[in-house]
Amino acid sequence: MRPEIEEISASFKKELKEVKTLKEVEGLEVNYLGRKGPMQALMPLLKSVSPEERPLLGKAINDLKEFITLQLAESKDRLLLAEENNRLKEERLDVTLPGRPRSLGNTHPLQSTLDRILDIFIEMGFSVQLGPDIDTDYYNFEVLNFPPDHPARDMQDTFYLEGNYLLRTHTSNVQARVMEANRPPIRVVSPGKTYRNETITARSHVVFHQIEGFYVDKGVTYADFVSTFDAFLGKLFHQGIKTRYRTSYFPFVEPGLEVDVSCLHCHGKGCNICKYSGWLEIAGAGMIHPEVLKNTGIDPEIYSGFAWGMGVARLLMIERGIPDIRLFFDNDDRFLRQF
Ligand code: DAH
Repeated sequence: MRPEIEEISASFKKELKEVKTLKEVEGLEVNYLGRKGPMQALMPLLKSVSPEERPLLGKAINDLKEFITLQLAESKDRLLLAEENNRLKEERLDVTLPGRPRSLGNTHPLQSTLDRILDIFIEMGFSVQLGPDIDTDYYNFEVLNFPPDHPARDMQDTFYLEGNYLLRTHTSNVQARVMEANRPPIRVVSPGKTYRNETITARSHVVFHQIEGFYVDKGVTYADFVSTFDAFLGKLFHQGIKTRYRTSYFPFVEPGLEVDVSCLHCHGKGCNICKYSGWLEIAGAGMIHPEVLKNTGIDPEIYSGFAWGMGVARLLMIERGIPDIRLFFDNDDRFLRQF
């Protein structure tokens, strides 16, 4: 065979071995079979050989051309397949990977605490009634026997709205509304949001939740209050919890009381949660003031009652030793998930 053909064949084989991409194969195709390639350059050779030699040379050139074409096509197929396989490998889904868990919402701890409290009172025969967050001075203060110059009416504590309206500062605003609309016996608990124009700190917030409760009937006594509230606290925390009723002052009760429970953490020995007193304050309460009953058309000569109010967050805070009320409003899932 002519050395020129040998040479082309050899260099093609060598180059083909080194080809790695489809693009390179296509480059090789242009180089060898294109108009400026070595195969084309062989054509003038045909004219220079003798007529006997010409068919042999022609056949040799054609054979090589065919060989090159075939080899290129094979390489193309092989590389195409490899590329396809690579793509599939990259796109492969590992169906054995664990899924990303979606965290489900929970009842907010304040709501579940509220539910626990309400359940106990409902079981005792109380019904739930709600009052308005926006109310008048009359229901929030006046009807509850607040003297006009009482400090709780101070602009600093109350969010006043236009007209004679305000954001209730306590759930006690439901008392007169319910008493006006119902005749004794009245046994009502009333949860809701309350608002105070105070600096937000670890212990106080501008919006917080309270539960009000009151019982009005013939012959309701202080002893009834203590036994009712002792029973409630025993169910909420544990039987055998100690309680303490201290005199205090609220304009709408006489006598006024503050209720303490023995510290749930140190059981009265003294710790940082009870500030080493052994007691935790849990509610304000008292015997409903005769003026309040009178204001709502209930005759205090015939009827009497008790009432109390307590903070929902505070209750959970002392129960679980939570140091900061703001945690309930930050909506940090790491905090909320613990309940
Ligand atoms: N309203 C009072 C407060 O927000 C709590 C309270 C005290 C409610 C005595 C009562 C009560 O019903 O009798 O601080």
